[in-house]
Amino acid sequence: MGCNTSRVGITSNAMTAEQNHSLVREIWGFVCNEHYEEVGISFMIRLFQTHPELRKLWIFAANLDIEHDIRSNAQTRYHAAKIMYTLNEIISHVEDYGKRRNILESLGKTHFTYDVKPSDFQAAESTMVYVLDSILGKRFTPRHKQAWSYLFQQIIVDLGRGVEQQVLCDGQLNAVLHQTSSK
Ligand code: HEM
Repeated sequence: MGCNTSRVGITSNAMTAEQNHSLVREIWGFVCNEHYEEVGISFMIRLFQTHPELRKLWIFAANLDIEHDIRSNAQTRYHAAKIMYTLNEIISHVEDYGKRRNILESLGKTHFTYDVKPSDFQAAESTMVYVLDSILGKRFTPRHKQAWSYLFQQIIVDLGRGVEQQVLCDGQLNAVLHQTSSK
């Protein structure tokens, strides 16, 4: 069986899981009090500007490259709000790895239906760290950055696992349908 570091209590660079969680929560407090909406929409702006190849996944956003247009697009605002809502759920249960893994795997399965591949999630870590750094400035210390990078690495793995589970499920379903139709 695999060993999840947050469950055994130690994370990278000698920070304990508890220290990591408290650094994540501290930043989330600032975000919720002052910058909730701005962090979500800035995430989408940065994502679209640094990874233009991902835009086509949003039907009405394929050609968006100007900040003003990304900011005012209903689909990007919707995804921004969804990300922030999900992060709030994850951070409320940050100590309960099983629960957040379930939330994210099931969300990964939903992303499969939108044609998102596990590798598409990779951009999320650097994008969120950049956004928090640019909005929070000195309050986002190197230790906060480390804790958020680690959280996002876990989020990316769990979302990607959900996509892969759905790929497998779909493959099995197609095989059964193929067998039935060829009888
Ligand atoms: C950075 C890579 C990502 C890509 C390319 C991506 C792509 C998409 C797309 C194309 C949709 C459907 C279009 C829409 O309804 O807006 C969607 C929906 C959604 N995304 Fe993402 N996403 C990414 C990351 C994330 C992350 C990190 C979270 C949360 C932590 C998230 C949460 C959601 C939610 C909650 C929905 C709505 C699902 C539903 O239909 O119920 N996404 N995403």
